[in-house]
Amino acid sequence: MSPQNNLAQNDTPAQVRIFDSHTALAKAAAHDIAMCAAEAVAARGRFTVAVSGGSLPKLVFPALPAGGIDTWAAWRIFWADERIVPPTHPDSNFALTQKILLDHVPIPPEQIFPVDTTLPAAQAADKYQIVIETEVGRPPRFDLILLGMGPDGHTGSLFPGHSLLSEAARFVAPVFDSPKPPPERVTLTLPALNAARRVFFIVTGPAKADSLAAVFGKKPPPAGRVRPVAGQVVWYVDRAAAAKISSAG
Ligand code: 6PG
Repeated sequence: MSPQNNLAQNDTPAQVRIFDSHTALAKAAAHDIAMCAAEAVAARGRFTVAVSGGSLPKLVFPALPAGGIDTWAAWRIFWADERIVPPTHPDSNFALTQKILLDHVPIPPEQIFPVDTTLPAAQAADKYQIVIETEVGRPPRFDLILLGMGPDGHTGSLFPGHSLLSEAARFVAPVFDSPKPPPERVTLTLPALNAARRVFFIVTGPAKADSLAAVFGKKPPPAGRVRPVAGQVVWYVDRAAAAKISSAG
């Protein structure tokens, strides 16, 4: 991807990039994140990025500092979803990214915006919505949102069949019944995800193959409903996850 690319339109198909190794996937994703950051900083003086939990931080973030990024001072970092656990808890998405990335790069602390998980989920979501609207905008046009996908096709904390998939007003919502523990979470909603300039999905392993194929089918799972209205989606996948996609290769 070139930083000169214009923003894709809503009829632009999602791009799928298939990698033979996790090292190659991580390197390519890190390179493209750096490009996005450079493009955003050149255009708007800052880079707003929302990150998820799961395997993504462990896979991709170690490859970032090695990429010679010189825009750290302009990064604003947010969370696409967070589990309601203390910020030091092993299940905390914030703690994971802090350990793998934030402790090692010069992003100013006041530009790091974790969900306030000392509050119950409903209040934490309300508070985070204000943070997002204030820092990113209404609707929030994140420069980049980094997402994973579960074997059931969930993304962020948007799970198949959940009423939150019909949310049209809020950009941030609480979840009380996540089938993936812990049950209480805060997540960006589809209106927020679909307002982004770019979304990168990082998906690996055979357990994701059926859901990844379904993303491009007629009845997509939640991850397949992430199609920014004026933005671009890129899927970074390994061969195992891509095994059942018929048209990509
Ligand atoms: C979370 C995540 C979640 C994750 C997927 C994929 O906090 O649980 O943000 O949406 O990205 O479940 O996780 P894996 O990559 O570990 O399968």
